[in-house]
Amino acid sequence: MSIQPAPENLAQLEADAVVIGVDSELSTPAARQLDELTDGLLSRLLQQEEWKPRLASTFRLYAPAGLNVPLAVLVGLEDDDYPVAARAFRAAGAGAKAVAGKPRGQVAFYLDPSWDAEAHTQAIAGALVGSQGQDLYRTEKRFHPPEQLLWQGPQEAFSPGAVLGRSVNQARQLVNEPPDVIYPESMAQRVQQWGAESGLDVEVMDEKQLEAEGFGAMLAVGRGSERPPRLVVLRWSGGPQEQPPLALVGKGVTFDSGGLSLKPSGSMKTMKCDMAGAAAVVGTMLAVARLKLPVNVLGLIGLVENLPSGHSMKLGDVLRARNGTTIEVLNTDAEGRLVLADVLSKAVDLGAGQIIDLATLTGSCLVALGTDVAGLMTNNQPLADQVTQAATACGEPVWPLPMFKEFGELMKSDIADIKNISEIRWGGTITAAKFLEHFVGDCPWVHLDIAGPAYLEKPKPWIDAGGTGCMVRTLVHLLQHR
Ligand code: BES
Ligand code: MN
Ligand code: ZN
Repeated sequence: MSIQPAPENLAQLEADAVVIGVDSELSTPAARQLDELTDGLLSRLLQQEEWKPRLASTFRLYAPAGLNVPLAVLVGLEDDDYPVAARAFRAAGAGAKAVAGKPRGQVAFYLDPSWDAEAHTQAIAGALVGSQGQDLYRTEKRFHPPEQLLWQGPQEAFSPGAVLGRSVNQARQLVNEPPDVIYPESMAQRVQQWGAESGLDVEVMDEKQLEAEGFGAMLAVGRGSERPPRLVVLRWSGGPQEQPPLALVGKGVTFDSGGLSLKPSGSMKTMKCDMAGAAAVVGTMLAVARLKLPVNVLGLIGLVENLPSGHSMKLGDVLRARNGTTIEVLNTDAEGRLVLADVLSKAVDLGAGQIIDLATLTGSCLVALGTDVAGLMTNNQPLADQVTQAATACGEPVWPLPMFKEFGELMKSDIADIKNISEIRWGGTITAAKFLEHFVGDCPWVHLDIAGPAYLEKPKPWIDAGGTGCMVRTLVHLLQHR
């Protein structure tokens, strides 16, 4: 999508729609201009409390006087809780979503020119994300991205904003594609193609190579499926040669039926989203390469399908993970940790200086933190602080959960080193993280459980339902500020 500067004067704008940022004081220049052009329509609207300019709330004006634009959408900018870049993303997303209902050529955005370039970058990303829907297979689309954006704001934000928005949308697309389209092999192929186009180094390991390298836990999860597992390693070497890479590790269960511990249909129906961690890693790596960031980053995604069959792993099976740890399987639905176990140990052996993993790992995380907040667990507080700061700045909330050793005690097995579920169901997000901790050695590590925010059952004002592409912006932000 191309982006061009918008004319300073709203009266000179010619476009198919315009999105105008508004607060109660009418402090943005475009809101004031619109108010003058319409003889105080906007002031009266606010005065009579027909509409409150709360963040991401919109109000439509058809063919307002004095404008050469058939549709103006007012979008509220006011919110006390979020930093400016986070507000910018949501406001722009809501504006874009409000005008996406039919095809339009040029859509102009006049949000807040006093924002810094970072906020405008987030806003442009928001505009791309808000105008793209999950309607991949609808003949009659509900979302129509504009052909061109006209933007009031610093031009230095145009290209990074477009890169970020596109990368988030690619992560969303991977999640939204049906599980019969995106399975381990096909996802690896698509990532290989996108990665190569963006300048990433891409390596794909097939089931034979995984076998030879002892990925016993990950392979056991994939055994129930006709479709063989894949490991994809993405590499971006933009930093100094001696700098050890940050490794991003993603859970890529392309469909989670639960395996022999079969899920009920109600819990299974959205389980194409169980590769959202891997999708976030892919989206981030694509953005990092396109932005040519001066950092060294590895992206590792473990791709498997978790299905029941005559070949499935069984309850009571003992697996040998890549790092030699033996694991008793007591629930085949606790498969994400088995996949991550081997991929985390691979990241360590590839020389990672730090690891961040992302996974739709536990339903317990939804119980603990709700649908919008990711759980954060770590063995290294400084790294956790960096991730938290980036997440807060982007408006992708994360919250810490404790890693007390008592939770680890619950994962000990009588027949093997550890078991894949805890003796008790309480604290399930933390016991899963304690399981993962066995596979990172002493590498500084942050685990993000994104089971809540990865997938929306209902749309938000600034984004359609379905895959959210969550944590791509946070991770890119983190890599830009280190
Ligand atoms: N993929 C699920 C977790 C999940 C649940 C993600 C809801 C997104 C929304 C994971 O593989 C799983 O099934 N976890 C089990 C673990 C249990 C068997 C210890 C769970 O949460 O019930
Ligand atoms: Mn599962
Ligand atoms: Zn799962």
